[in-house]
Amino acid sequence: SFVTFTYPPSLTEKSSEVAMLKTIQGQKNEATTMTHQYPALTAEQKKELQEIAQRIVAPGKGILAADESTGSMGKRLNPIGVENTEENRRRYRQLLFTADERMDSCIGGVIFFHETLYQNTDDGTSFAKLIKDRDIVVGIKVDKGVVPLAGTNGETTTQGLDGLSERCAQYKKDGADFAKWRSVLKISDTTPSELAIFENANVLARYASICQQNGIVPIVEPEILPDGDHDLKRCQYVTEKVLAAVYKALSDHHVYLEGTLLKPNMVTAGHSCPTKYSNEEIAMATVTALRRTVPPAVTGVTFLSGGQSEEEASVNLNAINNCPLAKPWALTFSYGRALQASALSAWRGELSNEKAAAEEFLKRAQANSLAALGKYESAGSGAAAGQSLYVANHAY
Ligand code: 13P
Repeated sequence: SFVTFTYPPSLTEKSSEVAMLKTIQGQKNEATTMTHQYPALTAEQKKELQEIAQRIVAPGKGILAADESTGSMGKRLNPIGVENTEENRRRYRQLLFTADERMDSCIGGVIFFHETLYQNTDDGTSFAKLIKDRDIVVGIKVDKGVVPLAGTNGETTTQGLDGLSERCAQYKKDGADFAKWRSVLKISDTTPSELAIFENANVLARYASICQQNGIVPIVEPEILPDGDHDLKRCQYVTEKVLAAVYKALSDHHVYLEGTLLKPNMVTAGHSCPTKYSNEEIAMATVTALRRTVPPAVTGVTFLSGGQSEEEASVNLNAINNCPLAKPWALTFSYGRALQASALSAWRGELSNEKAAAEEFLKRAQANSLAALGKYESAGSGAAAGQSLYVANHAY
């Protein structure tokens, strides 16, 4: 079955039908033991998790997603004529992580790729220590990428659960206090299927549970891709269904919500939708979808940029924070492309461009920090910042 639209009569069932449903539900509940939860986390563990999550999304702070896999780094470095070697990846990330102190009030967390966690600066300081010493939380991507869900129309699940507990324990020792796992869903006439929604919600919940057992705050990322010509309403509807399934699964797995962050897509129309929507319409659709599905206990929502231009991603985040609805969570950024595109084009692999590249990164970090407070005033989109970063069927 497909999650395509709501059948209209949902609000007008006859009361006899409702009564019958209630009886069936009551019988089901009697057959299941739901009397109490066996304690999953101690009070101290919960306190630690919640404090980590709060530090990451403290007012005016968001996340730098620098966890591009080796393959994705190739897609960033090729266009600027830089060979995708371990040393070039290290030099590029060093330039970001050593940006001056203006970074410290804007960035609460940095997500690393496995390789990055074990790299050092030129003078031999580990990247993890460098970031920690700046009072920024170190994160690590722990999923192992997407694989096909056979029998679906090109849908996927995400792998990486095997050995995850051991890997989390090691990462925690090596300085990581939060993690990321990305699931991907697609909008088309036949997707997302119930299978894809259910499977990805469950795998995200299982990942989150394992992270928390190891003192690591899980970022739960069910990304709905912007590919397609669907309108804003359709994206909002699908986002609501996906998030509702994710929070049901997190509850089923006894995940401690205060010690989690959500990394969703903003609700936008499909990339090839002919209708264009205002930033305020996008903000209203996004906040409405979140309010309907994300419990207030969740500490923060850190949006992905999903191929929006740098400027669009800042302006939309600002509009979201100015949306006139009650918003019980921190609403901030966890951007990859929208924090790095200008920096990459300024760098081009040259030592002499490193300062200018760091300056571009700081510009975006400061813009998004203001947007997270609803105080960003767009100066219009300059050359690089206004350029779309959309890639069809984006892999990370
Ligand atoms: P973008 O901001 O480039 O979409 O990526 C963020 C991310 O970490 C996706 O997993």
